[in-house]
Parts: sequence; structure tokens; C-alpha cells
Amino acid sequence: REEVVTIPVVVHVVHHTPEQDIGQDQIDSQLKVLNQDFRRVNPDAAKVPEVWRERAADARLEFKLADTAPDGGPTDGVVRRRTDVPEFAPDDTVKFDDQGGSSAWPADRYLNIWVCQLRGALGYAAFPGGPADADGVVILHSAFGTTGTAESPYDGGRTATHEIGHWFNLRHIWGDDGDGCSGTDFVDDTPNQAGLNRGTPTFPQVSCGNGPDGDMFMNYMDYVEDAAMFMFTKGQAERMDAALAGPRSSFLP
Ligand code: ARG
Ligand code: ZN
Repeated sequence: REEVVTIPVVVHVVHHTPEQDIGQDQIDSQLKVLNQDFRRVNPDAAKVPEVWRERAADARLEFKLADTAPDGGPTDGVVRRRTDVPEFAPDDTVKFDDQGGSSAWPADRYLNIWVCQLRGALGYAAFPGGPADADGVVILHSAFGTTGTAESPYDGGRTATHEIGHWFNLRHIWGDDGDGCSGTDFVDDTPNQAGLNRGTPTFPQVSCGNGPDGDMFMNYMDYVEDAAMFMFTKGQAERMDAALAGPRSSFLP
């Protein structure tokens, strides 16, 4: 795919406290990060180690808040809902009006992003091919965007970058096999790596005989802090492209 594809987004702000009713500036700050990261114009792109610089990809995906609601009327792409639920488990209840959440907009036309008080994770995502009413990504409000309630070290907007990677069918870079060397992310240009990396590792981190360059821990699909992740690879961009050509083809122009 040569052309850039723009994904219409609806952000469901599901709040129990006034603080969780995040401001428009925080939402805009998140969209800005997505539009940098998926176009490889993120300000930290130059930190990619020399050996992998050529592999860093522009995924040619952009995101914009929806301007048309499902009923055809105008919208700002934000749904705000007060909830009696103090904290959501990562069990999809936030995705349904009748469970204290906010129901999805049609998943073939919108990327649904729910922002709420979430227990046990910074975020989670639905892979392509699941039920439409639970499709989208859920992000903890304090790991969303770069301002407002966003809290260090997850105030770089990268939780949404990571989760939307999953939404486009990307797997974790370590292959989801614990600390083993046999799992795969089904992407050829990411080194085989043992387990996940956390914090802000120093280059290189060798595992599974992947020296001298080691793990690509600065990839958005590892588990490092926001300031330590700054690339997708061309192979990952191809995998996202395949999702867009297949199960997510309703987003193509
Ligand atoms: N699902 C992951 C978690 O909850 C998201 C990790 C995102 N990483 C990040 N640096 N923002 O741990
Ligand atoms: Zn993940």
C-alpha cells in the first residue's frame, strides 16, 4: 500500500470521578502521538540504534477523531459517560452501556478507544476477527496522552500506540512464550527474543543468541517505558497492512 489510510476514532471517556473525565487537550495529545508514531515522525525516532535505523517503518496510518456519528449527524468523536463503576476489570464491561460502560460505535467504521479507570493493566486490545461489539482498545486514563491525568513513566502516549498495534494484529515482540526462545511474533525483521523488557534498558540486551545487537526492546510491541520505545519495523508495517487488506478492509478508502 502506497497511500496513507486515515482511521476515524471515537474516544469513550467513561468516568467515575471528575478527574477521570479527561479534557480535550489530553485526548488531542494522544491523537498527536499516534500520528507521529505510525508515520515515523516521532521526535525520538533518531534514538533507534544505527543497526536498525533502516528497518524503522512509516506505517502510513493516521488517526482522526470522527466527525460523523453512526446516525450520520455531526460529532466531535468523543463520548462522555459518567459511571457508577469505580474501576473496570479488563473484561470488556467498559464496552457496554448496560454494564456501566459506553457501547461501541460500529467497529467496521470506527476505531473505538475507551479511556477509564482500569485495573491491572495500562491497556488492552482486541485483535482483528473478534466480536464487533467488543472491538477496539481500552486505555487507563493515566496512561493516555501526554498531559492532564497522564502519569510518568507512561505519559508518552505509547500505551495507545502499543494497543493499536495489537488492533492491527501485531503480537508482542518476544513471541508471548514467557522467557522462551521458541515463540514468534510472525514478523521476520524483529530479532528472536526471550522475554519482555521493562524500564529503560541500555543497548544491547542479548537473549536467545541474538547478539551482537540483541533484543529490539525499543520496539512499541515490547513492555519498556514510554520514553524507551520508538519504532515499528517494516515487517510489522507489512503485517498491519495485511490486517488492513483482510479483516480490517472496511477502513480502506
Ligand atoms: N498491555 C500492556 C500493559 O498493560 C501495555 C504496555 C504498554 N507499554 C507502555 N510503555 N506504555 O502492561
Ligand atoms: Zn500488549
